[in-house]
Amino acid sequence: MKLWGGRFSKKTAEMADDFNASISFDSRLYRQDIQGSIAHARMLALQGIILPVEAEEIVRGLLSIQEDIEAGKLEFSVTAEDVHMNIETFLIQRIGETGKKLHTARSRNDQVALDIRLYLRSEAEIISGLLIELMTALRDLAHEHVDTVMPGYTHLQKAQPISLAHHLLAYFEMLRRDWERLKDAVKRMDYMPLGSGALAGSGFPIDREVVRQELGFEHLTRNSLDAVSDRDFVLEFMSFGAILMVHLSRLSEEIILWATDEFGFIELDDAFSTGSSIMPQKKNPDMAELVRGKTGRVYGNLMSLLTTMKGLPLAYNKDMQEDKEPLFDSVDTLKKCLAIYTPMLRSARFNVDRMYRGAARGFTNATDLADYLVTKGMAFRDSHSVVGQIVAWCLEREKSLEEMTLAEFRGFSPLIDQDIYGEIKLKACVEKRSLYGGTAPEAIKQALEEADHFLQKAAAIIAG
Ligand code: ARG
Repeated sequence: MKLWGGRFSKKTAEMADDFNASISFDSRLYRQDIQGSIAHARMLALQGIILPVEAEEIVRGLLSIQEDIEAGKLEFSVTAEDVHMNIETFLIQRIGETGKKLHTARSRNDQVALDIRLYLRSEAEIISGLLIELMTALRDLAHEHVDTVMPGYTHLQKAQPISLAHHLLAYFEMLRRDWERLKDAVKRMDYMPLGSGALAGSGFPIDREVVRQELGFEHLTRNSLDAVSDRDFVLEFMSFGAILMVHLSRLSEEIILWATDEFGFIELDDAFSTGSSIMPQKKNPDMAELVRGKTGRVYGNLMSLLTTMKGLPLAYNKDMQEDKEPLFDSVDTLKKCLAIYTPMLRSARFNVDRMYRGAARGFTNATDLADYLVTKGMAFRDSHSVVGQIVAWCLEREKSLEEMTLAEFRGFSPLIDQDIYGEIKLKACVEKRSLYGGTAPEAIKQALEEADHFLQKAAAIIAG
């Protein structure tokens, strides 16, 4: 008979069991479920609701079940529906009557709310560590490439010369915000829901505080209805994940572009590239492409749960069982993407010469010529127009600005002197942008110090 079979006179249809069951995916919560049950049983004994020997029996039973699950000795069943009832059923099979007392003052609704929180809290810790590893790789690469000049782009058209370090540190900043977003989301996960019962709380004199401490939560949920029907913390995590994937996907897009023959800015290591089954010459950036591709499923998972939740009346509804597959998929995907990214980046080779040559073409120093005319007294709108004419003139003759003679420059404006050549050197263009947040080596040095400081602080937080 089912744990809830008392009021039924007929068996559930087999197909209804199959449709209803979540065990095929929520079995991954078995450890959290057992951890929560142990805390609950101990508290029941402490409060005199069950006997201490009964609690001990339950705890021993649960621990032996955990061992057997881990040894692959137990098989979950669809008839027992979900991880909670599977474990409870094992317990009753194993220790008999006492096992039937575990579910006193508890519902699967507060139980599942607890399990997901426990699960997500520990996954968030792993993801946070993986993020820091990736950020550390970006920081290290930036250190190496402070003086590497590359073209910066807008509209994917060459814009101004920048340092490769500056480009890499832009991603560092994005990931830093992601890391903070995750940390912030974890704060709102840190509420212990047991004691909410099915929806209305419990009439038993249980002690929620003891359970909270035992499970290491910062707070108690404040409203039993909310506690069993809230999945904001899952949505928040998935939003964090979606935004993180925006960033990884954009970086991937750049790596894919940079690895083309047309750009030639980067060469990925053989260990993180793949070949073609027909074209012998091919070396494809599949890892970056897959990260870009997997972004879709992480967005989709968020959208799926947002949609599931939007029309639900309080409190628990079975619809909410649909939270798990998208959540688990997002967790798995984020972990895999972050894990592959760090070694892929660290082993990549940046083609410093190609980058420099890329910056030397396409008039990336045109703004500096216009700025130069401003320092000589011309209004910026006018200098913009003069330099526009110079660029058009050069394009016709296939010349760069530095290849113009002084006489040719002066044909456009008598304000231009010999010192122009120093001003439009790529290195000078980069070096003069030394304001806080800029691309000059001086500004980058400060950015790197701040990055180091952040990483040290984050490491200390992770180490606890
Ligand atoms: N498997 C269910 C879920 O994941 C557990 C909670 C079920 N509660 C209930 N009243 N049917 O949502």
